[in-house]
Amino acid sequence: MPDLEALLKEERVFHPPKELVENSNIKRFMDRLGIKDEDELRKRALEDPEWFWSEMAKEVGIEWFEEPKKVLEWDPPYAKWFVGAKYNIVHDALDKQARLRKNKVAYIWEGEDGSVRKITYGELYWEVNRLANALKELGVKKGDRVAIYMPMIPELPIAMLASAKIGAIHTDVFSGFSPMALQDRVNDAEAKVLITADGFYRRGSIIHLKEDADEAIEAAKSVESVIVVRRIGLDVPMQDGRDHWYDDIVRGQPRECKTEQMDANDALFILYTSGTTGRPKGVIHAHAGYAVGVSATLKFVFDIKEDDVYWCTADIGWITGHSYIVYAPLILGATSVIYCGAPDYPKPDRWWEMIEKYGVTVFYTAPTAIRTFMRLGEEWVERHDLSSLRLLGSVGEPINPEAWFWYYKYIGKERCPIMDTWWQTETGHFIITPLPTTPLKPGSATKPFPGIDVDVFDEEGNSLSKKNIGGYLVIKRPWPGILIGLWKNPDRYIKTYWEKFRDVYLAGDAARVDEDGYFWIQGRLDDVLNVSGHRIGNSEVESALVSHPAVSEAAVVGRPHEVKGEAIVAFVVLRKGYRPSEELKEGLREHVAREIGKIARPDEIYFVPDLPKTRSGKIMRRLVRAKITKDRIGDTSTLMNPEALVLVEKALEGEG
Ligand code: WTA
Repeated sequence: MPDLEALLKEERVFHPPKELVENSNIKRFMDRLGIKDEDELRKRALEDPEWFWSEMAKEVGIEWFEEPKKVLEWDPPYAKWFVGAKYNIVHDALDKQARLRKNKVAYIWEGEDGSVRKITYGELYWEVNRLANALKELGVKKGDRVAIYMPMIPELPIAMLASAKIGAIHTDVFSGFSPMALQDRVNDAEAKVLITADGFYRRGSIIHLKEDADEAIEAAKSVESVIVVRRIGLDVPMQDGRDHWYDDIVRGQPRECKTEQMDANDALFILYTSGTTGRPKGVIHAHAGYAVGVSATLKFVFDIKEDDVYWCTADIGWITGHSYIVYAPLILGATSVIYCGAPDYPKPDRWWEMIEKYGVTVFYTAPTAIRTFMRLGEEWVERHDLSSLRLLGSVGEPINPEAWFWYYKYIGKERCPIMDTWWQTETGHFIITPLPTTPLKPGSATKPFPGIDVDVFDEEGNSLSKKNIGGYLVIKRPWPGILIGLWKNPDRYIKTYWEKFRDVYLAGDAARVDEDGYFWIQGRLDDVLNVSGHRIGNSEVESALVSHPAVSEAAVVGRPHEVKGEAIVAFVVLRKGYRPSEELKEGLREHVAREIGKIARPDEIYFVPDLPKTRSGKIMRRLVRAKITKDRIGDTSTLMNPEALVLVEKALEGEG
């Protein structure tokens, strides 16, 4: 492996293998249209995005109940795709597949304990229908919210599909989130039903999920019924009249259930994501545009073909799992792997063993995982035959060139291009991403997917395209998977995404575009941490800390971290009567884990007498962060109490 310094300096471009390019879905598509290369395709698609996206809808085989009357209606800041169509994503993801691919395996599922289940499209169809009928029996109607708090078991996608099938809106909460976090989301969405499981295994120990769910819904009045999947056979308390075992409730249900004909722009799901201030935002996605966007990007970026075995390692509780484990692969009729367990359990070669065992051809993971495996050493990889792989993917944060090369060399054996996909919960699907034909520059997500108008703006809204200067990443026109709003919060929707540059979507990331038109993502501009590829609002961790009786104020910032991307560092001001101690630190860490979830547990806590603030009393995180990264402090003219900044520095030094 050439040394990293040299690699970073040289501007090597990696060309995908000829054979892969020649046989790719995108090449065939371009040949059919007489388009010579991807740059011409991008140009043509931007000249007429509505033409391009209706072509895409055909390419992925969308079947409408009623044809759209108009491809796009753009009434800023609200976009409606495939207007006038009657549609339901579950028709393409499931009903159609049960007809076309009845005996094809949809999911290969493996549990941490080694159990394996293979589910065909035919079986998936039956299961979803039975649960959908059960939900109806519980009184779930079109537009009702169904909360889902489940480990990575087949019943998780089944629950999502069953809700969507009858026109309900699902809202998944990652099973690693705490009862408090679940309660918040269930209350905000006013969910009528909660679907959960008794428990699951993680790193050999048992997680008691139902107990957490019970704690959460104690104060969630909207929840009328709870459905519990028996995953490991725990003896859990069941509340009479409210709680039902999954097996009992689906038993005897008909294996057919009519798919609700929705308007193209009716809500499909709400997914909560962290924002700069206040509570998580409920991002809403709709049926039709989202269906076209996720499936077209999967088909043309990961080049999914009939015989692929595709594995996305994300948790379904995040957007990556929603789009690229559940909806997109099913719409393409693909076979996917789902793994419920820790990546390095029982040994650090668990993933590589599974790639070999199932003959995985397309593998999609996150830089934080790659860095973890890098540390564990390539000897674990070399024990396995990974020759089935032909494409790799990365998502969640910028992939540092060192991790890129390791992934490329040890996992892809220098044969597999790496699709570094930039996107967000809000965008629904890939926005900036290579195609299998794209020459790659390690660390760059390359160029926008055809038909998507991405740019980098300066403060005044001038384009910095090809200037290689950092600025605000923006999307200038609607794309099919665009969020349709924030749940019960239209003001925040406008303020967060559309106010800075009029009628232009503000992503919240910094980026630059080099002379060749390649995008380089530089990270978040706002106060959002990226821990192991997951978005956590600084303010969420701060308010969790402040909810502890000992804490009066807190500032939370990120410290660059070798594996996690960012580590969480908290500065805490104690209330009168409390004294700093190691015990209290541990207590605060646990408190945050309880309030939000383990992923949000601060890595470092420092006690300080005061925090740097503006004259209006706002904590200046920017200055605190600069002390950590040892960056230039910049403008301090609004700083009211400079001595507090000195104390922050002292605290950092004191702790070594
Ligand atoms: C970051 C995850 C660089 C980015 C799909 C974005 C990335 C946030 C990449 C969204 C990438 C995601 N390169 N940064 N390939 N992918 N990000 O909503 O800061 O959980 O704004 O969606 O992750 O995180 P979210």
